[in-house]
Amino acid sequence: MKYFFLSYLFIGAIIVSAFGFRGSKSELPPLEIFPDMDHQAKVKYQAASEFFADGRGARLPVKGTVPMGFEIPAKPISDGEKPPRWGFTNGTSYYHTGKFGDFYGDGLPAEITGDPAVFNDAFIKRGEQRYNIHCAICHGASGNGKGLTSKFGILTAFNFQQPGNLDPANAAAYRADGAIFDVIANGKGLMGGYGGNITVRDRWAIVAYIRALQQAAKDSGATLQ
Ligand code: HEC
Repeated sequence: MKYFFLSYLFIGAIIVSAFGFRGSKSELPPLEIFPDMDHQAKVKYQAASEFFADGRGARLPVKGTVPMGFEIPAKPISDGEKPPRWGFTNGTSYYHTGKFGDFYGDGLPAEITGDPAVFNDAFIKRGEQRYNIHCAICHGASGNGKGLTSKFGILTAFNFQQPGNLDPANAAAYRADGAIFDVIANGKGLMGGYGGNITVRDRWAIVAYIRALQQAAKDSGATLQ
């Protein structure tokens, strides 16, 4: 029995001298019994690398790479397309948020209406095209909220709410232009935001197109349903 206690103390002393007391600090790297994938061959940022002829670990992006937040050009830059423009929300102005301070604004912002090169028939056409790409699948081509998804019951099967009916006769759908802009950018309720996919200018083009849809419905005396 004596030997048992002695060896017990001895083993305890070995463990403490090898691992230290709990909470004690050490300059040594931690003991790794299962290293998992902690150590991998990789280049750390700003570090040199002998792998590349110029000795730099960091590589330049491929020529013509479009940085995040910039518009994807219609044609490749190698075809003479101009370098991309910054296209996504990067400020708190009405143009970028649809809001003046805490309140939604109405009407298209001056950045659009004040530039004849932007504000023309092509602007509404662009809005139509973008609406049909991004929104019609749920909201329907006419905006009545009966897009393809409603036919398959995807939104109703789990008791999901139907996409908003954008008909002006639907009081809830009449929202200030800035509010629609905000729904496009950040989503609302069950609808996800499209701020990462649709540029600021395209969001306003969609708002203008929704107004055109609503006006057309009004003019024809019909509702969008
Ligand atoms: C995946 C389906 C889906 C897509 C795509 C979609 N929406 Fe929605 N949208 C919804 C749903 C569902 C609601 C209702 C959300 C809620 O209130 O919970 C909604 C609500 C709205 C509303 C608010 C209506 C109201 O009564 O307040 C607007 C405006 C709107 N969407 C515009 C758009 C626009 C513009 C696009 C295209 C950029 C778009 N949506 C794309 C599903 C979608």
